[in-house]
Amino acid sequence: MISNDTPRLYIQEVSARDGFQMEPQSIPTAQKIAYLDRLSLTGLAKIEVTSFSSPVAIPTLADAEAVVAGMKRAPGVVYTALVPNLRGCERALATAIDEINLVMSASQSHNLANLRMTCEQSLAQLAGIVQRASGSVAISASISTAFGCPFEGAIGAARVLDLVDRLVDMGIQQLSLCDTTGMANPAQAEELFAQARSRSPAVAFTAHFHNTRGMGLANALAAMRAGVTRFDASLGGLGGCPFAPGATGNVCTEDLVHMFQAMGCQTGVDLERLLLIAADLAGLVGHEVPGQVVKAGVATRRYPFPGAPERPHATPVVQHAADRQ
Ligand code: COA
Ligand code: ZN
Repeated sequence: MISNDTPRLYIQEVSARDGFQMEPQSIPTAQKIAYLDRLSLTGLAKIEVTSFSSPVAIPTLADAEAVVAGMKRAPGVVYTALVPNLRGCERALATAIDEINLVMSASQSHNLANLRMTCEQSLAQLAGIVQRASGSVAISASISTAFGCPFEGAIGAARVLDLVDRLVDMGIQQLSLCDTTGMANPAQAEELFAQARSRSPAVAFTAHFHNTRGMGLANALAAMRAGVTRFDASLGGLGGCPFAPGATGNVCTEDLVHMFQAMGCQTGVDLERLLLIAADLAGLVGHEVPGQVVKAGVATRRYPFPGAPERPHATPVVQHAADRQ
């Protein structure tokens, strides 16, 4: 049951980064900018607009500078971009981005596959980035494979909590726990976020779930029950890490907002407006997208009742026991 004192929830849109990085075809820069400009007017708390990754590793986001320079900024929206290394940090600092989102994995093998560094090397690099960027931009960090790794399997909560401590010690106060390939289940999600929040109460945690195994919304709800108020989600359910085998889309933004609003939670998002953008998304990316509410309509949608069908033969279907004797 959701009570009146339910906290405001913050929806953070990641399709232009987590989504577009996974698209086989690059979307023209002007179309990305027009898309972001529409998203900016929907009441989203934060928008991850691109990543300053190597253009060789992520060719579809090679236009990061042009995207940040071209988009219109709406008041109240935090604009963030993923930064995997020091070079990416320098590129981001040369733009007007509000926040950089650092990234590393909880598992050694995914960190090597994704970032070509060991976890220790990433931690050292992230410490250098924090030193370099502090005072210039806000800094958040994402811990990938926090609920399971496609190469190593289960990741212990102790490992994730240790990384949380290390990142907090660097001075980072905004952390996303990411389920990169949809391995989390709701019991695990609630437990890990509850532990992380009680251990680091000053940290603003974000739940970043992928819907690879259909548990995305259930996991988001479980995180909310553990007190999480910030959720990454991707319009249409786009998304996935190109360096994680089997990765598929994030929790779908409009489905998540629809669920929270139906439960009486405040998200600040104009769902109707969001659905209009979602309806155009297949055209933008050139293929169907997994989002469901845009296809079904909101739960309050009603159809005209066609009237009861006429029965051709009015033969009684049920005979009373007494009649059958
Ligand atoms: N932006 C632009 N160019 C970059 C770069 C960045 N962030 N990082 C590295 N490069 C360039 C280097 O300048 C170098 O160019 P050169 O060959 O012309 O000298 C080249 O890429 C190789 O550099 P190197 O330091 O060997 O980096 P790398 O190739 O090992 O790349 C990563 C390391 C992590 C930056 C890269 O693999 C990457 O961006 N991965 C993608 C991470 C990601 O976004 N994953 C999905 C989201 S979780
Ligand atoms: Zn992701």
